[in-house]
Amino acid sequence: EKGGYEHFMLKEIHEQPRSIANCMRGRIHAEEARINLGGISEYANKFLQAQRIIIVSCGTSWHAGLVGEYLIEEYARIPVEVEYASEFRYRNPIIGKDDIVIAISQSGETADTMAAVELAKKAGATIFGICNVVGSSIPRLSHAGMYTHAGPEIGVASTKAFTAQVTALSLLALYIAKHKGSLPSSRIATLLAELQKTPDLITSCLKSEPLVQLIASEIKDSTNCLFLGRGINFPVALEGALKLKEISYIHAEGYPAAEMKHGPIALIDEQMPVVVIATKDSSYEKIISNIQEVKARKGKIIAIVTEGDTVIRDIADYIIEIPFCEEALTPILATIPLQLLSYHIAVMRGCNVDQPRNLAKSVTVE
Ligand code: M6R
Repeated sequence: EKGGYEHFMLKEIHEQPRSIANCMRGRIHAEEARINLGGISEYANKFLQAQRIIIVSCGTSWHAGLVGEYLIEEYARIPVEVEYASEFRYRNPIIGKDDIVIAISQSGETADTMAAVELAKKAGATIFGICNVVGSSIPRLSHAGMYTHAGPEIGVASTKAFTAQVTALSLLALYIAKHKGSLPSSRIATLLAELQKTPDLITSCLKSEPLVQLIASEIKDSTNCLFLGRGINFPVALEGALKLKEISYIHAEGYPAAEMKHGPIALIDEQMPVVVIATKDSSYEKIISNIQEVKARKGKIIAIVTEGDTVIRDIADYIIEIPFCEEALTPILATIPLQLLSYHIAVMRGCNVDQPRNLAKSVTVE
């Protein structure tokens, strides 16, 4: 059942070229810049008229929501707020019938996310569910939605569900953009064609596994680890840190790289591995300065870079290359080496990767 892999988590990491392809199947007509989302049709106008969108979710799904915020604001030009479902529901949120609430949940059964949906629904909002488990509670509570079709995820640490959520949000953002006219069709066509290449690009990211294993063996005994990213890759830093915490029990934090100077830089010394997402995108020059700041304080830099990067190679202790892609798609690719890194560190530390202590696959308690 683990398909020859030692753990479900590793199997699920390696399944991502297929799970992403399944998420896109039948939904993309790149040449015509058309996206087919059956589950939205009746409510499409709501999205076109929406003054704002609120995303509610927990854990890894909340990180996917943060990526979604960048994508929807950038392409569809609708303001987005991303909320922890638990905070949203207990806060007497201001919400009404013109709002759209997107609930993201792998299991579709997370108690806090369900309660947030119920509350928003009562207030008259339109609920759009992005879930993986077909027929689960959140899709049944939602007015409209889309499944991520990543297939069953058994490992407690979410991997393929996350990349499928980001894929689904990319499709949704482009769908709204297309119907709103907030992005030229030619640009939509290009982005869709690029999105269709991601399964192959993930396959190439997975080839870095032996190198990632080597890096894992170098940093596995650390007690702390920082993850830095900027822009659309800031949520990837959060996700990298969460993955490491939950399966290896190493204390890890994700930060927007520019926030370092406001406090966390005090933590840096030679004992501190710092994983930086430093791909060639709009934040590239800035992130190089952030890397130099860490290096000046003797932190150990592990950088996720764009294939062929020669600048960061000279500054970082280790680099892991990912293929060049559209900036909007880098979160999907940059996540892959971070999943592998946590996995191998956890295995080397003798941890129970698929069933980490104190955690359950779906959190059905409040
Ligand atoms: O099933 P959901 O997506 O609603 O679950 C949300 C979180 O409980 C979940 O992502 C959790 O953080 C994972 N263990 C992360 O790997």
